[in-house]
Amino acid sequence: MSTLNPVSAPAARPRLGLHVITWGCQMNAYDSARMADVLAPLGYAPAAAADGADMVILNTCHIREHATEKVFSELGRLRSLKEARARAGGRMVLAVAGCVAQAEGEEILRRAPYVDIVLGPQTYHRLPEMVARAARAGGAVIDTEFPPESKFDHLPEAASASPAGVSAFLSVQEGCDKFCSFCVVPYTRGAEVSRPAASILAEARRLVARGVREIVLLGQNVNAWHGEGVDGGVWGLARLIAALGEIPALTRIRYTTSHPSDMTDDLIAAHARVPALAPFLHLPVQSGSDRILAAMNRRHRAADYLRLIERLRAARGDLALSSDFIVGYPGESAADFAATLALIRATDFAQAFSFKYSPRPGTPAATAPNQVPEAEKAARLATLQEALGTQQRDFNAATIGRILPVLITGRGRHEGQIGGRSPYFQPVHLNGPAALIGREVDVVITAAGANSLAGRLHPAPEEFARA
Ligand code: SAH
Ligand code: SF4
Ligand code: F3S
Repeated sequence: MSTLNPVSAPAARPRLGLHVITWGCQMNAYDSARMADVLAPLGYAPAAAADGADMVILNTCHIREHATEKVFSELGRLRSLKEARARAGGRMVLAVAGCVAQAEGEEILRRAPYVDIVLGPQTYHRLPEMVARAARAGGAVIDTEFPPESKFDHLPEAASASPAGVSAFLSVQEGCDKFCSFCVVPYTRGAEVSRPAASILAEARRLVARGVREIVLLGQNVNAWHGEGVDGGVWGLARLIAALGEIPALTRIRYTTSHPSDMTDDLIAAHARVPALAPFLHLPVQSGSDRILAAMNRRHRAADYLRLIERLRAARGDLALSSDFIVGYPGESAADFAATLALIRATDFAQAFSFKYSPRPGTPAATAPNQVPEAEKAARLATLQEALGTQQRDFNAATIGRILPVLITGRGRHEGQIGGRSPYFQPVHLNGPAALIGREVDVVITAAGANSLAGRLHPAPEEFARA
């Protein structure tokens, strides 16, 4: 059952300003762009600010604490803008989307009755209808179902409302069936759904035709992707990556976020076989203690993770690794934390994200008896980040003097500067012409900081011009 409204061409419609505020993961960034696409046929075009916009969407994240309070404080600010617009004789449609909307939709309408639309991550293809209903009803519209139809089957294929850039996200999988005991995602995003390969490949080709040179495949559990293949069989992610690797002019492919227990043999082999697949992998481990990993319901032990890293590095010697860590999970002892530090030393991460455990309503860990005191969590986080920060600086410093292929993604901060990413996902700045944007060029790395590299074109720009 599709509830989509047929919408006519935008030609005669007034141009309406749409401002989207995006918090959370890359998937929310992808969703925000798709919401803009879905609303474009109604005449909505991107507006740089909420002030004066005809519609504002707040796309929210629920992963760690204060998420809800942050939403209400932002809504308070948007309410004043909405009222100012009404006083000026206009109207601002205010929508709350994303994972807080999914988890706390009713609460949002109760505490912020001036909100017009509340929608979950799986229903935004119905936005045109919601906008029409909100205009008619005078009251709020809420749609946080997990609908039987997939939103991906209802997204417009025409040129997107937003410019594509050099690197683009492409959601291939959504939702999560893993139920790690600390995590809200299985509740906010629902069960795992994989898009069919044909639809993904078509979207990838459209992106490349618009100038995209790097595609980042997205999924809450992207390596659990198992979609219908173009040959009618069931494909795994390795097969999809191989098919994407055949698209001419698609220079780089990455995928995120992966779960260690879904890292299959053929996906490991893809790192050796597919030249476009970047030698960079974000593979969250969360903890190095088997006791804590079991309590977290992570379905693997520390040794399994280390073995996996070994096999990945055997496939691709220069593979750079990134991970996520949680410190202070309920019951985490000093010895458990020491095991996490040992895993970090044994692995050598090129970068990582780390968080204090944050109890999330409705998740099993939130009500576990042995919560770790806040001060202890803070102290462990500082120790962990120091260890990870050292590894990141060492990894960056080791590139000095090397020639790396850098995919140029845009202009730099200063006049004459351009910037891009190394194969290992490090930001690189250099002097060079903007004409190089979208190209992969050789760069000699001359300096390395904690978070980025500096370099110069190789060969030098004059030789480049002659080449
Ligand atoms: N699907 C991915 C990412 C989930 S959210 C995965 O399986 O790894 C991104 C990161 O947020 C997680 O990897 C975890 O490190 C962190 N996170 C999730 N829930 C959290 C919580 N309740 N407290 C602290 N960090 C959390
Ligand atoms: Fe959350 Fe675990 Fe699913 Fe990742 S795998 S989204 S951490 S439940
Ligand atoms: Fe946040 Fe939802 Fe992403 S909770 S991390 S926006 S899946």
